[in-house]
Amino acid sequence: MFNIIITDSYDKVSSEAFRIMKEELKKEAPVLGLATGSSPIGLYKKMIADHNANGTSYDNVTTYNLDEYIGLPREHDQSYWTFMHENLFDQIEMPEENVHLPDGTGTDPEASCRKYEEELSVRQIGLQILGIGSDGHIGFNEPGTPFDSLTHIAELTEQTRRDNARFFDDNIDLVPKESITMGLASIMKAAKIIVIATGRNKADAVYGMIKGPKTEECPASILQDHDDVTVILDEEAAARL
Ligand code: GLP
Repeated sequence: MFNIIITDSYDKVSSEAFRIMKEELKKEAPVLGLATGSSPIGLYKKMIADHNANGTSYDNVTTYNLDEYIGLPREHDQSYWTFMHENLFDQIEMPEENVHLPDGTGTDPEASCRKYEEELSVRQIGLQILGIGSDGHIGFNEPGTPFDSLTHIAELTEQTRRDNARFFDDNIDLVPKESITMGLASIMKAAKIIVIATGRNKADAVYGMIKGPKTEECPASILQDHDDVTVILDEEAAARL
């Protein structure tokens, strides 16, 4: 079941997401599922502003990130570890021991996947934030990923590597080829999900997620089976609905 919110600006999209986040943060021990990419940045900025203005504490908050590149050192400026610390954690005084990201640095990524899925099984994610790839991927679950997948090693498609090259000096050769990602079944366990999408190049993926057939060719279409998904869009991303 989708609750769809369409606004006319990215700022309003972020405000809508923040409104839902604030409700989640009222819980005694919130568990957040977080995403990287440009889509959630506005939400993270609002969380930081709220932390600075109102002293909102993250001491009791636990976070799990969706995915991480394989082969980038944690401190690499494009690792998702760095992204999350720069764009959110360092600015909200997030306790490091409450932060979870898949470990893409080790010599045994399969073992990292198993370990991450075990960590995820300790608590249910209360609110999962998602962006969506232009090919309908969520996390790094690219088209063709089984709906029953748990945390696994995922190869990035050519399209996703092209989309992400803008973060790597526009050089696709610098974009890692593999990642560790929560699987589609791992994502579906969250109690509540928000999908944030803006811009014309997301319109097809948004259409596929909501109106298309439920198919592994559009990974986000699995969300049709979840009972609490809020999709927050600007008019461009909503153009095909
Ligand atoms: C990346 C990430 C996804 C993200 C998506 C969209 O490849 N792995 O988690 O949702 O692409 O990114 P953006 O929000 O920058 O468009």
